[in-house]
Amino acid sequence: MDDPRRPSPDHLTQQWLSQLMLSHCAEQAIYLISRLRIPDLVESGVDTIEAMAAETNIPSRPLRTLLDALEGIGIFARHTDGRYINTPASALLSSDSLSAEAARARYYGSSQVWNAWTRFDESIRSGKPAFELANGRPFYESLREDDELRAAFSTYIARVSQKSDAAGARSLELADARTVVDVGGGYGSFLVQLLRANPQVHGVLYDLPEVTEDAKRLLPADLVDRITVVGGDMRHSVPAGADVYVLKSVLCDWPDAEAGKVLHSCAAAMTGDARLITIERIASSVNDTGYERLMNLQMLLLFGGGGLRPLSEMRDLLESAHLSLTSATEITGNQSVLISQLAPPPPSGATSR
Ligand SMILES: C[S@@+](CC[C@H](N)C(=O)[O-])C[C@H]1O[C@@H](n2cnc3c(N)ncnc32)[C@H](O)[C@@H]1O
Repeated sequence: MDDPRRPSPDHLTQQWLSQLMLSHCAEQAIYLISRLRIPDLVESGVDTIEAMAAETNIPSRPLRTLLDALEGIGIFARHTDGRYINTPASALLSSDSLSAEAARARYYGSSQVWNAWTRFDESIRSGKPAFELANGRPFYESLREDDELRAAFSTYIARVSQKSDAAGARSLELADARTVVDVGGGYGSFLVQLLRANPQVHGVLYDLPEVTEDAKRLLPADLVDRITVVGGDMRHSVPAGADVYVLKSVLCDWPDAEAGKVLHSCAAAMTGDARLITIERIASSVNDTGYERLMNLQMLLLFGGGGLRPLSEMRDLLESAHLSLTSATEITGNQSVLISQLAPPPPSGATSR
């Protein structure tokens, strides 16, 4: 007979499922305390509900419910006298933390991303990105209009890839390279690492004009002379004539047709022995964790596709833009470096079918 003091497996499953279905509460609570900078307040000694209520202009009752919920899941703790203290998790959400999490919270929890979920069902039926259905324009166009969301997104991207940027830059063999264009290079964090590892290289940081304007202010002073910043749309063209093109964590943002346009632009800019270095996480049905699979869902929400692709799909995409994959090497953080070059022209007289 069942021991009544021990929860049955069914009961545990039910609890787990119920908790999972409250994940949205956790996400919005994390978003709100990040925007209100509560971890910063706690750190600076504003650590009672009354003091925080006065500082944030939020009535103390709902503020207590908010912080209490977060304390329940390990974000914030309390002294016996009731004063709040930061836990390692809330410390990661403070504005002077160099982690990606504060920026991620402000990006995932934003009303635009949040609203997109209300159109998800329609999106997966129609193939149109839920983000676009909900907000009336594609993700990157929305960022153009919204400085706060753009800063949260770009900071998140720059920070989330900080570790892999350094490892990725070191893993590239660029002794023969003179000019490297980082296509969709964001705030330039990868290009900076790459230039530090390769003193002979001149870099071109290429991204949407509004992003490059922000990037110009953030590039390290000692590298400004070695970086040309160019704004444009990579689906139409990329700067020509470099010997190396980099696409890092870019193709995952685009469904196949749009990713194909980006690759076509790169191929059109490349000549002779120029190479394209694509750095992406490669999907593996065996190794992908729940986190990676949920990230694929997030990409579907924002872009209507993209996400992690298996190597065979990456090769097909490259080939569709007349690029042939010459090597694929796994580096740290489950990321792979794919090197491709312009495919040789078909032998004369060959017909394409
Ligand atoms: C996921 S982020 C990757 C940034 C950077 N490569 C990295 O790994 O940190 C994608 C980048 O593509 C840029 N992007 C999006 N659409 C673009 C377009 N049409 N033309 C140029 N850049 C674009 C975004 O602004 C963003 O910086």
